[in-house]
Amino acid sequence: MLQDQQYLRIPGPTPIPPSVQRAMAKPMIGHRGNETSELLRSIKPRLNNVFGTNQDVMVVTGSGTAGLEAAVVNTVKPNDEVLVIVTGAFGARFVNICEAYGIHVHKFEVEWGKAFDPLVIKEHLRNFPNVKAIFATYCETSTGVMNPVHELAAAVKEVSDALIIVDGVSCVGGVETRMDDWGIDIMVTGSQKAFMLPAGLMFIAVSERAWDVIHSNRNRGFYFDLVKYRNNLEKDTTPFTPALSILFGLDQALELMEKEGLENVYSRHKLMKEMTRKAFRALDIPLLTNDEDASDTVTAVKPVDFDAELFRKVIKNKFGLSVAGGQEHLKGKIFRIGHMGYCSPADVLQTLAMIEIGLIQSGKNIELGKGVAAAQQLYLEKGENH
Ligand SMILES: Cc1ncc(COP(=O)(O)O)c(C=O)c1O
Repeated sequence: MLQDQQYLRIPGPTPIPPSVQRAMAKPMIGHRGNETSELLRSIKPRLNNVFGTNQDVMVVTGSGTAGLEAAVVNTVKPNDEVLVIVTGAFGARFVNICEAYGIHVHKFEVEWGKAFDPLVIKEHLRNFPNVKAIFATYCETSTGVMNPVHELAAAVKEVSDALIIVDGVSCVGGVETRMDDWGIDIMVTGSQKAFMLPAGLMFIAVSERAWDVIHSNRNRGFYFDLVKYRNNLEKDTTPFTPALSILFGLDQALELMEKEGLENVYSRHKLMKEMTRKAFRALDIPLLTNDEDASDTVTAVKPVDFDAELFRKVIKNKFGLSVAGGQEHLKGKIFRIGHMGYCSPADVLQTLAMIEIGLIQSGKNIELGKGVAAAQQLYLEKGENH
């Protein structure tokens, strides 16, 4: 193993493209000067495309959780009722944030590894007419599930005026997101996943309906007060010192996404998911989720006859290949492969080849090359543009 070679295939942080890395090494500039305003002005409309919104996408220094907390503190008040759909560890994070602010949480729990059903949520909501906001997770990173957030607003509209607030941290930028068309009121994401950047920025967009709620809320906190960010962004500036180096990187990351074409970015992620799933099926190793619920950005594998943690250790020591373990009650029971951001079908093939060796070296009996061949075959069938 080369001493400085790492294969980072966890569901974020993800690898950073060399041109983005170089952009981030640029000399610092003043955050109140024209250059920063020009940078923000250039970034603004390009984020609209990624989010599928005409609303300004605010860029805030902080990790993804900062985005979740901002969504909570701006829209709901202590004792307000909310519904949180919990499909895994990140749904549970919304519960924890809401409870930290004294908000009355109704939890809707879904078995980990499955997606929620918007029609079931709609029926459930009939019991909670006072719910002010519904919190959902687009890609539930802890299970590799992609929830049908595109159908949520339409489904619940008949029974509830609650705001629809979505955590898109581990997929926006890698999967189609049409916030306005889907009726999503707040969408949040982070920089260290499909955006191919280090952690440190979160992006958050807000619908007109949600702005009305936010403006009428007098206790929006201080750092996360989104009205400050909106007012400043209108003048191409930020209320507080932005993480400028990551903004330099963002400018370049967007350039890469635009050159590839967003549609191609999304179909690449879909292809990488399918290649990964096909490989494990060929190896006869179970996956946690079914095809319909599976995320394009992260795949959870559920070993039954080998030790997931030993396997992770073997591939890390042998090749410097990192995949993530399970969280909470899935710890030791699954491992998760990230295939998002700066990751190509060629990377997936290489990862699968290393995984097959790791499987054999951790005691799993497989026919070498079977998973890789299945993924190669799929690439030949569907990989034309990638
Ligand atoms: C879906 C989801 N939400 C929220 C977060 C939290 O983001 P951060 O660790 O950047 O605060 C993550 C991080 O993995 C995530 O995957």
